[in-house]
Amino acid sequence: MQGLENRPQIVEGLKGVYFATSEASFIDGEIGKLLYRGYNIHDVAENTTFEETAYLLLKGRLPNKVELAAFDAELKANRQLPPEIIEVIRQVQKAHPMDVLRTAISGLSAFDPDTEVRFDRNNPQPYLDATLRKGIRLTAKAPTIITAHHRIRTGQAPVAPQSDLSHAANFLYMLFGETPDPEDARLIDVDFVLHAEHGSNASAFAARVTAATQADLHCAITSGIGTLKGPWHGGAAEAVSKMCEEIGDPDRVESYLEEQLALKERIMGFGHRVYRAEDPRARHLRERARELGLKKGQPKWFQMLQIIEQKMQRYQSRGIFVNVDFYAGAIYHLLNVPDDLFVPIFAMGRVPGWVLQCLEQYANNDLIRPLTFYTGPMDVPFVPLDQRR
Ligand code: COA
Repeated sequence: MQGLENRPQIVEGLKGVYFATSEASFIDGEIGKLLYRGYNIHDVAENTTFEETAYLLLKGRLPNKVELAAFDAELKANRQLPPEIIEVIRQVQKAHPMDVLRTAISGLSAFDPDTEVRFDRNNPQPYLDATLRKGIRLTAKAPTIITAHHRIRTGQAPVAPQSDLSHAANFLYMLFGETPDPEDARLIDVDFVLHAEHGSNASAFAARVTAATQADLHCAITSGIGTLKGPWHGGAAEAVSKMCEEIGDPDRVESYLEEQLALKERIMGFGHRVYRAEDPRARHLRERARELGLKKGQPKWFQMLQIIEQKMQRYQSRGIFVNVDFYAGAIYHLLNVPDDLFVPIFAMGRVPGWVLQCLEQYANNDLIRPLTFYTGPMDVPFVPLDQRR
């Protein structure tokens, strides 16, 4: 074993470590502040659509009307999937939707018109341009993958995308086969906006690690999707929904929380690696979840969430506040979205953020390769196979 005197400072979980500069988003976890490209998330969430936000993130500034219309048309023109990918989805239909999304996006690399564009250190711009085009295509296609899979696994034919619907409305249309209520579509739209980018979170970091080896965008997004799936990251909204189903009634909240906390279980939808104040995205979903519960005649859900939030207030002194996924789960549930599509909704919203993080990595690249401090035995005498007992 290496001597303890040699032990370097180990930053478990890379907490608080900066590894790159970025112009994507600014987060002040102490006061709960989030900016996308300099714009406050509150302004972005209340005043833009997902299409505008994606443009802002990917191109670095808010679009004017003409630019937005062209970007929207580009997204719409790229919603369709090649029939071969629909067939892949059919073949893997029993898998979790995140695994299907990961597999389909991986497969799409074979059909992307920019697959052959290679990175050239001396002239990186063509590769960056190709990556942006790929990113727009993946943003457009992600909802088609998720909804085609859901239709196939439930014995229904996939619904073709509709070009007169927004990104969010078209997602609901392809999922349920009918034009959605505009208010429901706006809820999903806001949710996509709130999830679009969030600095060096685990999935964006995973995507950057992959991009930093100069692997292409499809590889990087595949890494991001795999990383997002876990309940400590993107899986929290689904876990919140399961928690509410388990609790069942507002009267049972207190005893449920006592039991879980006594078992040292984490309460889903609370806590964050960076925020030590309320996640600024949460407020945009809180009021909307309440209104939706009333509209759908299911106020019980919001009541349960409110009581959980009240009871968890005592953890605020330890820096554990509500996060964006707490109310997101309620909204998806009330919109009749199946539980296992909650993480994929997060993924659909996050594609522009992943793409932007990868663009930044390609533009200013260095291999990301930290160290682990070896604590195993040293210089062990080798025993040949036939002498081992
Ligand atoms: N419920 C109860 N306790 C929690 C908690 C939660 N949701 N989140 C953190 N804690 C506890 C930890 O167990 C730890 O306790 P300990 O010191 O006794 O071991 C302490 O608070 C400090 O944890 P912290 O360092 O703040 O968390 P982290 O950065 O390691 O983890 C998360 C961050 C997001 C993984 C964590 O808060 C979590 O698992 N939350 C639930 C899942 C979730 O909602 N994820 C979505 C994030 S957007």
